[in-house]
Amino acid sequence: MCMRRYLPSIAAVILILSLSLLQILSSKYNQEQEVNPESNPLSRFRNYLRINTAHPTPDYAAAVNYLTAFAATIPTLQIRTLYLTTPDKPLLLVTWPGSNPTLPSVLFNSHLDSVPAEPSKWLHDPFAAHLSDDGKIYARGAQDDKCIGLQYLEAIKELKTKLDYTPLRTVHISYVPEEEVGGFDGMAKFVESKDFKELNVGFVLDEGQTSVNDEFRVFYADRSPWHLVIKATGVPGHGSRMYDNSAMENLMIIKAGLAANSEVISVNPVFLKAGIPSPTGFVMNMQPSEVEAGFDIRMPPMADPDLMRRIIAEEWAPAWRNLTYEITEKGPLRDYTGRPLMTATNESNPWWSVFRQAIEAAGGKLAKPEILPSTTDARFMRQLGLPTLGFSPMKNTPILLHDHNEFLPESVYLEGIKVYEHIIRSLSSFDGVPVSETSK
Ligand SMILES: *[C@@H]1O[C@H](CO)[C@@H](O)[C@H](O)[C@H]1NC(C)=O
Ligand SMILES: *[C@@H]1O[C@H](CO)[C@@H](O)[C@H](O)[C@H]1NC(C)=O
Ligand SMILES: [Zn+2]
Repeated sequence: MCMRRYLPSIAAVILILSLSLLQILSSKYNQEQEVNPESNPLSRFRNYLRINTAHPTPDYAAAVNYLTAFAATIPTLQIRTLYLTTPDKPLLLVTWPGSNPTLPSVLFNSHLDSVPAEPSKWLHDPFAAHLSDDGKIYARGAQDDKCIGLQYLEAIKELKTKLDYTPLRTVHISYVPEEEVGGFDGMAKFVESKDFKELNVGFVLDEGQTSVNDEFRVFYADRSPWHLVIKATGVPGHGSRMYDNSAMENLMIIKAGLAANSEVISVNPVFLKAGIPSPTGFVMNMQPSEVEAGFDIRMPPMADPDLMRRIIAEEWAPAWRNLTYEITEKGPLRDYTGRPLMTATNESNPWWSVFRQAIEAAGGKLAKPEILPSTTDARFMRQLGLPTLGFSPMKNTPILLHDHNEFLPESVYLEGIKVYEHIIRSLSSFDGVPVSETSK
């Protein structure tokens, strides 16, 4: 009864709210569209950083609208939004058509989302894009990876409007959702789509990492996570006895390798489940009959997964010691042809040479190619056999991905645009025949 009386006024409130929302939206839109002397690469970067795309509630729509509005100011760019899962997870695709669209294209990828931030642990609001007196932009996503997302567009804007350059190969930029939560509703769906096949991609650049020295870092592979849970059973018994074959004793035979860097298999114990709970903690005079241990294993692409499985079965968790185990492989180590999931960084990969020369032409130095210790969306492209490098042009900058007080110096951001101008120009004008195209 009360509801009915209130309904008209609720409707009025909603109407007023939507009208003012419309006003806010249109004034925002006009700001972006007007020739704004205040609008420059740095202000555009800071505005992009102010859009909160952190999990668990990333505002993908706002990020896509913002990028779309900017891309629309650059002549000849084609813009599409794809919905490969649910309407709240859009994927933005920007295309710069090449003069020879039959050649395989070049794809530049970045993700729209970021990990959460704890504002209380930051010097500045992580979504205010605060600029410090010494020229650092503080924001979640400043390094990972909103920088590259806008740098791609800024570089194209320069090439198109200042140099009137037209690419030979088509250039695509993808802005994918959900990378920070595994990419399953983002890049994983994209690479399986008809839309992706139609792009006829020949080479991919995806995100990389900061370097603390004067050399840019480049990554040719990711490591694949495996989760291993080993369960031991044994004879239960009184805590005062010293008998053989208790569950605890069986579990103790597990051996772990040592991790030196991203090129070896790392094994980190992450949990131990043992003991018989009591109201005050654990029963102290009983030896448990069942115990469990969990391990986070990271496998570099050249590791032999079959050998690893055999070592686990025979040495770490042998059945004769009452040990059972379960491996959850969170990603493959081989591409669809059975080759290790890595991109060649030698003459056998002509894209590599073009990329390396572009960095040199930009006045940059490249560090020895590395394997990324963690995982990115690049693995989905490598699975298709596509040569993919991880690269973010950030040097002399502390590594603050996923950390508090993530920042990027303005000068590093601007230099990155110049680097991409060289890279995009070189890759898109490459007229050779990549090896992968002849062997297709
Ligand atoms: C395995 O467990 C059973 C009881 O569940 C026990 O009798 C046997 O001795 C155990 N064997 C070893 C090697 O731990
Ligand atoms: C290039 O690198 C790949 C992958 O690391 C390797 O298999 C191949 O032998 C190398 N080729 C040359 C010509 O060095
Ligand atoms: Zn990232």
